[in-house]
Amino acid sequence: MSKEIVVSGIRSTGHLHLGNYFGAMQNYVKMQDSYDCYFFVADYHALTTHPDPKELKPSVYRVLAENIASGLDPEKVALYVQSDVPEIPELYLMLNMLAYKGELEKVPTFKDKVRQHPDNVNAGLLTYPVLMAADILIHRAVKVPVGKDQEQHLEMARNFANRFNSRYGEFFPEPQVFRFNDETVKIMSLDGNGKMSKSENVNATIFLNDDDDTIRKKIMKAKTDQGPTEANMVMPDYIQNLFALMNAVSNPGVTDTFRKAYNNCNVRYGDMKKQLAEDMVAFVAPIRERAAELNKDEDTLRKILKMGADKARASSSETIKGARKLMGINY
Ligand code: TRP
Repeated sequence: MSKEIVVSGIRSTGHLHLGNYFGAMQNYVKMQDSYDCYFFVADYHALTTHPDPKELKPSVYRVLAENIASGLDPEKVALYVQSDVPEIPELYLMLNMLAYKGELEKVPTFKDKVRQHPDNVNAGLLTYPVLMAADILIHRAVKVPVGKDQEQHLEMARNFANRFNSRYGEFFPEPQVFRFNDETVKIMSLDGNGKMSKSENVNATIFLNDDDDTIRKKIMKAKTDQGPTEANMVMPDYIQNLFALMNAVSNPGVTDTFRKAYNNCNVRYGDMKKQLAEDMVAFVAPIRERAAELNKDEDTLRKILKMGADKARASSSETIKGARKLMGINY
């Protein structure tokens, strides 16, 4: 039986952090064997904000190197850059004819951008959801692992797919949100304010390229308190977060010891953080080093991209051929 098709776009801004790693990457890595995965760097999407041309290549290489170092296997998945697949902008053009100005203007992410950057309300920004729909529909994918903030975009992709189907004939399946199982760990910011993110407090976010001492410093500064005042007390979320991190990177015995100490009200957060810091360093260092090594190895990265683009184009050209035929573009 053929595997279900999964597509996901990776943004090329900022370094990967532990929130991405445990919240998404680990799941992507698990998916590689059971699904037909297409993962790509969304470089065309990035153009909506006019990045410095000199910065594109380093950021694309960096994001590729970090994703591969985190466990994505370019032999198993199609790992490519969006702009290497000209079928995507072709489908984007077709879908633009089925997307209405009114519905695009109502999208909350678009309205946010208009509010934040009223001087750069370009058509690419308005049609961002159409390009995203093209990314997905080009492989006729059925599952898309995205966060809450992208669910509306996915709904629009379903609408465009259905509109195409009802106008030209059944062709695109409806892509659905791929939900990770409940075991997915949610990593909070080390200052206890919301989820770990690259845009909030960078001192409370551990990036996969942080050096050993930076990791130690960030963990030692993580928010704690006076400790529990009675046995088996419910943990505040910032303490629970430290345990979640420990669970993810330390030996189970170590976590158990501190958990027991917590329940007996004699936990020492200083010791706990020291232990966590060392285990975190041991966890992150090999990923960071592998990413740095790959990042310098342009030949290998270029080969990986070529391989990914070939796989992506094989699937994309089939879709475009079918769409053109249905639309009558076959002279
Ligand atoms: N818009 C997504 C984000 O900001 C990235 C993205 C672009 C994407 N195209 C996609 C995600 C297609 C899933 C499928 O995170």
